Formats: sequence, C-alpha cells, structure tokens
Amino acid sequence: MPRVAGLCFGGDYNPEQWPEQTWREDAQLMREAGVTLVTVGVFSWSMLEPAPGKYEFGWLDRVLEILHDAGVAVDLATATASPPPWFSVAHPEALPVDAHGNRLSHGSRQTFCPSAPAYREAALALVSRLADRYADHPALAMWHVHNEYGCHNARCYCDTTAAAFRDWLRARYHDLDTLNDRWGTAFWSQRFTDWQQIVPPRTTGSYPNPGLTLDFHRFSSDALRALFVAERDLLHARTPGIPVTTNLISNGFTQLDYWQWAEELTGPDRLVSADHYLIGEDPTPPGAQIAYAADTARSLAGGGSWLLMEHSTSAVNWQPRNFVKPPGQLIRDSLAHVARGSEGAMFFQWRASRAGAERWHSAMVPHAGTDTAVWREVVTLGGHLRRLGEIAGSVVDAEVAVLLDYPSGWAAEGPAQPSVDMVSFDEVCRWHAALWRRGVTANLAHPSHDLSRYRLVLAPALYLLDDPAVANLAAYVRAGGTLLVGPYSGVVDEFDRVRLGGYPGALRELLGVRVEQYCPLPAGTTVALDNGATGRVWAEQATTTGADVVASYVDGPPAGRPALTRHPVGDGTAWYLGTRLTRPGLDRLLGSLGAHPLVPGLDAVRRRHPDGRSYLFLLNHGSTEVTAEAAGTDLLTGAEHAGPVTVPAGGVMVLRERL
Ligand code: GAL
Repeated sequence: MPRVAGLCFGGDYNPEQWPEQTWREDAQLMREAGVTLVTVGVFSWSMLEPAPGKYEFGWLDRVLEILHDAGVAVDLATATASPPPWFSVAHPEALPVDAHGNRLSHGSRQTFCPSAPAYREAALALVSRLADRYADHPALAMWHVHNEYGCHNARCYCDTTAAAFRDWLRARYHDLDTLNDRWGTAFWSQRFTDWQQIVPPRTTGSYPNPGLTLDFHRFSSDALRALFVAERDLLHARTPGIPVTTNLISNGFTQLDYWQWAEELTGPDRLVSADHYLIGEDPTPPGAQIAYAADTARSLAGGGSWLLMEHSTSAVNWQPRNFVKPPGQLIRDSLAHVARGSEGAMFFQWRASRAGAERWHSAMVPHAGTDTAVWREVVTLGGHLRRLGEIAGSVVDAEVAVLLDYPSGWAAEGPAQPSVDMVSFDEVCRWHAALWRRGVTANLAHPSHDLSRYRLVLAPALYLLDDPAVANLAAYVRAGGTLLVGPYSGVVDEFDRVRLGGYPGALRELLGVRVEQYCPLPAGTTVALDNGATGRVWAEQATTTGADVVASYVDGPPAGRPALTRHPVGDGTAWYLGTRLTRPGLDRLLGSLGAHPLVPGLDAVRRRHPDGRSYLFLLNHGSTEVTAEAAGTDLLTGAEHAGPVTVPAGGVMVLRERL
C-alpha cells in the first residue's frame, strides 16, 4: 500500500489546469477535507516535456512541495497515457489505426499504437527522468503508471501491430502448419503459406476467422501489458520500496485479460487499483454495480487489499444523460467500495475543470466552490475514512465464487454465433447481481484458480474452456464442492474449435449430460420449466448420462427434456442449467444451493484482520430503515450497539465486532 497511515482519501489532482495561487488554496482545502493522498500529473506529459527531450519539472517540484507541506502524500503518475501533440506530429506512424484502416489523429488522449517503438521509447525516457528526479522525494508514496491502459486504444490494426502480432504468433505456434490447424484455415480457403499473409482482423467482407480474432485479442492485451511491465520494472529498479500501480477499469471493461494483468500487479511493492463509475441508466442498482466492480478488483488482488483509484462525487460527463448523486450517495458508494476491501476512496478529480473535455464531470471541489452539498459530503467522508483507519489492511471473506474468463467472453461474443442474445460478460454480472440481491459477497475467479476455499462456485458463461481448467473444475467437485454451470459452457477449446461428440464437450462427463442441439429462442419469448421457473434466450436438447433431472422444459423446442440437472461426483455435486433463468428462478436456485445472506435485508460485508478483529459493514441502499441482528461499536459515530441495530434509509453503519 502507499505510504499513508490509515485509509487513502483524495483523487486525481491536476494542478497544471490552474494558476499557482490556486495550488495553495487546494492544499488548504485538502487539509480541511482530510485528504491523505492525491494522484498528480496523470495527463501532464505535454507540460513535463514541452518539446522532445526538453523537460520542465520546476512546476511539479513546487506542487509536490506544497502537498508535502500540507501533509498530503503523492501517488505520482508517469504521465504516459497521453502523448503530447509534438509526439504525434513527429511520429505519425505511432498513431493508432482502427479496423477499417483509418489512422486516428491526436487531439484526445491515448492516441498511440501499443506496438509503436517510438511511443515506448518516448514513454520510458519520461518515466526514467521522473524516477530519477523524485526517487527520494518525501511526498512520493506510490507510482501511478499510465492511466487506464486500453481505455481508448485497446486494439490497433496498423502495420506495426501486424508485424508484432506475427512475432507473437510465431512464439505461440512455431510453425504455420500448427497455426493453420488451430485456426481451422481449411475453411473458406484461408490457409496461410507465409507469415507475412497474416494481418489483424481488419474489416473484411464477411466474418473474420474466429481463431485469428481470439488470438488478436490476446495479443493486444499482451502488447499493452508489456508496456506496463516495462514502466513498472524501471520504477522498481530506480525506487525500490515504492509501490507501483496502474488503475484498472472495473466498469464492465472486458478488452484486456485482467487475470494476466493481475499477475503483474500483485506481489511486493505492487498494488491493484481500479476505477469505477456508475452507469446511470443501467437497470442494475448502483449497489450491485459497485459490488461487482469492487469484488472484481479485490479478486484481481488475490482477495487482498486494493484501492479504489477513481470514482465520481456526483455526475460524470460521458454517458448520454449524466445523473447527479442524491444526498448521501457519495458517502454510501465510497463506503460500499471500502466494505469490499478497498483501502480508501479516491475520486476523479479534485477540482472541477473549467476547460477541456471533462469540464462537465463532477469533482471534490465543484465549479460552485465549497458552499455546496457535494463539498460538505466530501468533508464528511474524509472524517468517516479517518475514523475507519483501523480497518486498513483487513480483508474480506467470500465463500462463493463466480467464474470469469476474458478470452472465453471474447470468443462467445464474436459474430456468427447461435444467438446474438447469448451475451457472456453481462451474464456473469447478472448472476453476481443475483448473489448481491441475496446479500452474499462473492469473489470472481478464473476457472484454473484454486477453488477449494469456496462452498459454491458458479460458472454462468464459460463458452471456452481449456483442458487444465476442466480438470480443475472436476477436482473441485470431486473434493466436495458444489458447481453450477450455465448454458453454452465448455463448448470450445482454447482455439475456439468446437469440442465434438455432443455438447458441452469439455464438461459432458463432469455434468453427466449430453446435448445434441442448442435451441436459441425468439427475442422476448420464454420457456416454462416444470419447477415453476422460466427460461429465456436459450434452451438445449439434452439427455442425461448419469445426472439426475431436477427440472424439465414444459414447452419450447426441447419440451420434456431436462433443463436443470444435478450430478453427484466424488464428494461434490455438479449442477447444469440449460437455459437462462429469469430473475425469480435464478434467485430461488441460488438460494437452494446455499447462497444465504450474511445479514438479511442489508448489503452486509465483513472485513477481518489476520488477528481476528472484525468489522461489519451494513449498507442500506433502500428508502426505508432496516433493523438487523448485529452488534458492536459503530466506528462512524462511536455508539455502542448491543443489537439489534437499525440502519437508516440510505445509511451506512460500520461495526467493530466484539471478539
Ligand atoms: C476515467 C479516467 C479519468 C476520467 C474519468 C471520468 O476513465 O481515468 O481520467 O476521464 O474516467 O469519469
């Protein structure tokens, strides 16, 4: 964690947008609010290096001095997310190209090709200068590499990328015969006879090759990851002991394989941090959106500490309609992240911009200044986080896991699938939201992870499974675990080739089920199950080969066939669901599998220190007060509660539980 006592509180601080006299006022206000950490310089490359090789650090020296004098620690950005205009003019070949072959212009941010040597060289030169200059600065608490890698340039289709992609493929397949076999290039006359013939999946007349496309997504994630690793290693070498992070995007961003990124972000002097913004018009309630984001970030951190690096005090400016947060939500949202393991709450950004593309984005200091409800709530939150300092370093328990695999989702959401409605990533969120509704905190996990600590493992959508993951799931069940697999899982291998002999090829044996045909349903229609549940989107023509039938289809294409099965395997049970249950049926099924609430009626999460001290977060997202069986000292008010406790509508209680 950054060198900050207690929890982190602050946000992105962009002093370069303001005259120097504002910096002193900022420092004063940060003290007033109890700010402990700010991220400085995320988008200041053009100010730090106004011309190639000409560096200007004087202004940053003064900013760091002022912050340090005010007792505010600095998460110093490497500023490499947005190359300055001079860079793109000097290196037009480093601008990204989209799938249609259009070279993008500079003028926004992240306008570089991840494989461009010129970008890498210029970025590392800047990082090297920053590391040398600030290595021993007393304000330096953490390095903030880049910003949200891949937010705008996750995939580039230029010729430099094509060459780098071919190198990546050579390392993966060694020879073209293997590549042709894995990609099934015999189909549609796509056989490659020279590596040079291989290009990224650029716009073409019909569907691109699925194996090529999937590998291109993997390559693209790796290309950006290599940039992160290069910056990180440089910083580790020059400033040992200073933690390094990069802020991941936890808003349903699925373009990078974050499990692989997590491996680079965990371990000594590394920290997983993540940004989260509510999607105002998403029917998923804000509490569930936050729970998914925070549970993902914590799981990427291996269940340990992570930091909410950005969220908003009120409205954002990048959705079609940007809603303000009603009173109390700023605090509740922040504490919802802290409940789920964040070591604090940080915001984008400290002071609302008067100019630039994000001038309509909320901030800790609004345009209207400090005589505002937002500022008052910011100050209250600062006090709350100070009072919660003793929870720093405690971790969250979770007994249920939801499986998520990025390449599987990429493959399943490609074109020419049985049904456009068979979304993958959203289904993972939907099952997670069902757990949240039941008051259950879950981790996200990869199918190859050690699952033995979980009582229940859910696999809502695992279209693609490789053999080691299949063996891992089977071992988990055999050892006594309960696994529930959703439809259209275990269908293809890691090259997106169908596993033959009946679906779900990889899981047939474990589930004791064999499927002959998948039966997509017309949009908006449903099928009835004989246990009263309803399915939508999808059904399957299945027969059991060892599993017990728990529910069958009453109507629809597979009428009379099994829809929900259970298969005892070793000491455990493997359940299979062949349709997408609507909400009541899904909720009931999860309940019957033992997903029980920690504290009924509330969003309740427990954080625990290794020495046993434990804290119960009780969040009431509803509009009426809730009384619940819980007891302890309320850290926010100091009140002692022998139990039961009443959490007001929209309120939060954090109880230090008695040992
Ligand atoms: C994030 C980004 C910030 C800011 C914010 C606005 O994606 O890291 O720089 O743009 O969104 O919500």
